[in-house]
Amino acid sequence: MKILVTAGPTREPIDPVRFISNRSSGKMGYAVAGAAVRLGHETVLVSGPVALTPPEKVEVISVVTAEEMLAAVQQRIGWCDALVMAAAVCDWRPRSPCLQKIKKLEMSRGLQLKATPDILRIVRSRKENRIFVGFAAETRDVTKEAQRKLAEKGLDLIVANDVSQKDAGFEVDTNRVKLISADGKCDSLPLMSKNEVAERIINWIMSKDKNCPPDAGSAKGRTSSPPADISIDGKR
Ligand code: C5P
Repeated sequence: MKILVTAGPTREPIDPVRFISNRSSGKMGYAVAGAAVRLGHETVLVSGPVALTPPEKVEVISVVTAEEMLAAVQQRIGWCDALVMAAAVCDWRPRSPCLQKIKKLEMSRGLQLKATPDILRIVRSRKENRIFVGFAAETRDVTKEAQRKLAEKGLDLIVANDVSQKDAGFEVDTNRVKLISADGKCDSLPLMSKNEVAERIINWIMSKDKNCPPDAGSAKGRTSSPPADISIDGKR
């Protein structure tokens, strides 16, 4: 299969030296990309700014803002069989980022915000037979919120995690998630490494792919490359 993964936070500029962002480290999305490659899939990773080395054999497209992430996903959506949106896209951005550094006193006027584009909602019209997986990082009503997002964004699967726990969610190497699918199934996984969670997600995708042979986990020789029509930074 061809799998498109997003990872990390986005950064929304306030001025040339300041930005709004979030605590996402990118570890979960990078683990998903790594698992996808290990299980024999062609993988493209759209990454926000993170301090991680990408898995080998993954093409990385580096982005900063939600707008840039949207553009990268739109460029590659036609190529992929499955989209895994693990990125923690900022929900808000400054209404008019300043070209010059804002003076401390000027800032007291307050920051005007506007919503960023909702990438999953926008690419929903191009879902066709593609498998769409989203994430829901919540601090309360985890299952209920995740189910709402699953339906609202037209997903096949949502990976829900309670980020108020110390050993799960942001920054750490482990996660405790629920896999909630559009057919109503809910699989509560125990605490496991993000690599193991990632493999569960890729295996779930493979189980839903009608074109995937049963031994596709060891598939080799998928060589066709995606179109290289936007900047690629393999060193991030
Ligand atoms: O931020 P939220 O909890 O709504 O994210 C749920 C899912 O939607 C995640 O998979 C996230 O990557 C995606 N998302 C998006 N565009 C946004 C915000 C979130 O595609 N602007």
